[in-house]
Amino acid sequence: MLHDPNRVYVFDTTLRDGEQVPGCQLTTPEKVEIARELELLGVDIIEAGFPVSSPGDFQSVVEISKAVTNPTVCALTRANKGDIDAAVEALKYAKHPRIHTGIGSSDQHILHKFNSTREEILERGVEAVRYAKKFVEDIEFYAEDAGRADVVFLAQMVEAVIAAGATVVNIPDTNGYCLPDQYGAKIKFLKENVKNIDKAIISVHCHNDLGLATANAVAGLQNGARQIEGTINGIGERAGNTSIEEVVMILKTHQVLGLHTNINAKNFYELSRMVSSQMRMPIQANKAIVGANAFAHSSGIHQDGFLKNRDNYEILRPEDVGFPSASIVLTARSGRHALKFHLERLGFTLSKDELADVYKNFLNLADGKLDINDTDLQGLMAYRLVKN
Ligand code: KIV
Ligand code: ZN
Repeated sequence: MLHDPNRVYVFDTTLRDGEQVPGCQLTTPEKVEIARELELLGVDIIEAGFPVSSPGDFQSVVEISKAVTNPTVCALTRANKGDIDAAVEALKYAKHPRIHTGIGSSDQHILHKFNSTREEILERGVEAVRYAKKFVEDIEFYAEDAGRADVVFLAQMVEAVIAAGATVVNIPDTNGYCLPDQYGAKIKFLKENVKNIDKAIISVHCHNDLGLATANAVAGLQNGARQIEGTINGIGERAGNTSIEEVVMILKTHQVLGLHTNINAKNFYELSRMVSSQMRMPIQANKAIVGANAFAHSSGIHQDGFLKNRDNYEILRPEDVGFPSASIVLTARSGRHALKFHLERLGFTLSKDELADVYKNFLNLADGKLDINDTDLQGLMAYRLVKN
């Protein structure tokens, strides 16, 4: 099969890693609704759940498999036959099924989670891939806690699971531990030292414990990974996962990287709101790309520069990610230029002196109020008429 070497596959795990968050659990119909939107967004793979974990999760994988056509539907398992059997059964209606199986790869996990040895764990990983491969062609292997794993052992593990039939090798920074250059170097090492690496796609799966999930994922892509795993709004275990919207917009903004995805970025805003409300997980206002303030300009200096030329303070167009528009928020930090802009929008054209006069009243009002809306501005102008 011929692959475009610059194409980055987007693997969405909102419904699996994202849904693990306390309070974010969804019903099967809610998951199906989100999966349909993910298909419209253009994600390549939807991780629909962990079928052995509960009957509800099993059923969600079944229903999502029936509901979507283009994306691969993926089910998570641990490295054992029972989990894999459940995943095979749950995926039976998927047009493009994938099993995501794996095991710990760091000494921390090998010793203190599995009470085992590197050799035994490697064998269990290989066995799981061989077993899953009997039922499904597309097998992704995750080397859990790869961020803290010894890179030479990790390379042996990756080589062995590819030889056993893995089509994608996921190198998770499960604990969000790595620095971007460390994580990038790990991916580079695998690319250069695993002799059958060209038979699989390397996937990056980063957690945000130190706020580096997006930076690490991009470092992985710069060093040869071609699948990125993440969630909408960056939701996920503890501090969350890589935000898909951030990585996609980084690749679009920095064309020099030469990488592209199949994502319809204009769908981000709506989908972000939908995930937030269904999962009862508010989006922080300053969240990159989708936060309420992501395209809101509020200080006088920024507003003045933005009104002169939006490129002064805008590296992305809000409409490119489906935002209704940029906004000039009026607060006590706003300047005359922003006030003039809003007054003209409401139909009031003032001379320089008139504006200076209204601006004084505006500041008095804004000092006592969080932000000023159209009704406040109309009130200011009415007051002016009465006063004069
Ligand atoms: O963070 C992680 O290691 C995971 C794996 C199960 C892929 O979510
Ligand atoms: Zn994870």
